[in-house]
Amino acid sequence: MSKKIRVAVIGAGSISEMHLKSYHNNPDAELVAICDLNEGRARAKAEKYDIPNVYTDYNDVMKNPDIDAVSICTWNNSHAPISIASLNAGKHVLCEKPLCKTVEEALEVEETVKRSGKTLQVGFVRRYASNTRIIKQFLENGDLGEIYYTKASCIRKLGNPGGWFSDVERSGGGPLIDVGVHVIDLCWYLMGRPKVKSVSGNTYRKLGNRANVKNLAYYKAADYDANHNDVEDLANAMIRFENGASLLVDVSFTLHAKEDELTVKIFGDKGGAELEPALSIITEKYDTILNVTPQINNLSFDFVQGFQDELNYFIEVCQGGKETLSPVQDGVEMMKILCGIYESAEKGTEIVF
Ligand SMILES: NC(=O)c1ccc[n+]([C@@H]2O[C@H](COP(=O)([O-])OP(=O)(O)OC[C@H]3O[C@@H](n4cnc5c(N)ncnc54)[C@H](O)[C@@H]3O)[C@@H](O)[C@H]2O)c1
Repeated sequence: MSKKIRVAVIGAGSISEMHLKSYHNNPDAELVAICDLNEGRARAKAEKYDIPNVYTDYNDVMKNPDIDAVSICTWNNSHAPISIASLNAGKHVLCEKPLCKTVEEALEVEETVKRSGKTLQVGFVRRYASNTRIIKQFLENGDLGEIYYTKASCIRKLGNPGGWFSDVERSGGGPLIDVGVHVIDLCWYLMGRPKVKSVSGNTYRKLGNRANVKNLAYYKAADYDANHNDVEDLANAMIRFENGASLLVDVSFTLHAKEDELTVKIFGDKGGAELEPALSIITEKYDTILNVTPQINNLSFDFVQGFQDELNYFIEVCQGGKETLSPVQDGVEMMKILCGIYESAEKGTEIVF
């Protein structure tokens, strides 16, 4: 029988619910601690999930020898310090995306992973989703040929979550680092993780957070506050890879767009695919172009099941049965891309690596 993994969840805000629920559902995981700066919030989760230990300082989590692994669900500015402390305390880490705020921090986390011998899984949840796993099989078998172009959009017409999300000090940036990270990673992962050659990006702060808008609901931080906003509302970028492939992306917290939009498209020399808004494969047979729709439960990303699959995978990694699908090195590479785009936008030039 495999060892039960004893888990602490650090950060008890919105996304922690997905982690707590998924661990709770996994018979090989045991929730033993919860930690949040806001004690009431941590206690409420402890009560809901019957968690015995409640902390307000993550350093106290590290002192508990009965914890094998931690999930980090805090603001982005604490991802690196909490990851480093956890690894140094001999615990495996599942760190929510983005890995951290800067490339320097990312390299420090990577170094600590190597030194500690523990695993850090970056929370690139979409890699674990069924539509990604299915298309990956087609890619690995060469059905789409070589992927030379990918294109992704994650456009919110209204959806600056406020609070820490719109405070660059705590978030590291706006929609690019928050939601852009998911779609850029997905494209890059499906392209086979080619080495980045250069990035060219633009960021705009034209519309503010539009907290004035009425009659339209959107996702908000646990501590919503619309008073502070110094992140971009729109970002776009062209990413070039050493193998000649390219990736085009645009993301927004708000934009005068008619509809929200989530698209992820990959194009190869034998076929193409759309992952979002719905999995579809484009191919050619007997001189006719075909759009193929797989018969599967979910053609697009299933939020709840995606987290369950990601956390189940992490537990198996902690038990020593598997290598993670989203290792720290990929988190570092993603920080290079994201920070490169911000630098390019600031300087108004292409950044060559
Ligand atoms: N994978 C996904 O699809 C997804 C979705 C949403 C959020 N996230 C990520 O999850 C993280 C949290 O986002 P959220 O939406 O839950 O935010 P949130 O504001 O709802 O919750 C964050 C919680 O972390 C706590 N916190 C902050 N710093 C802390 C510290 N040093 N020690 C203990 N607690 C601390 C806050 O008090 C708050 O309760 C972010 O990194 C975000 O990017 C990922």
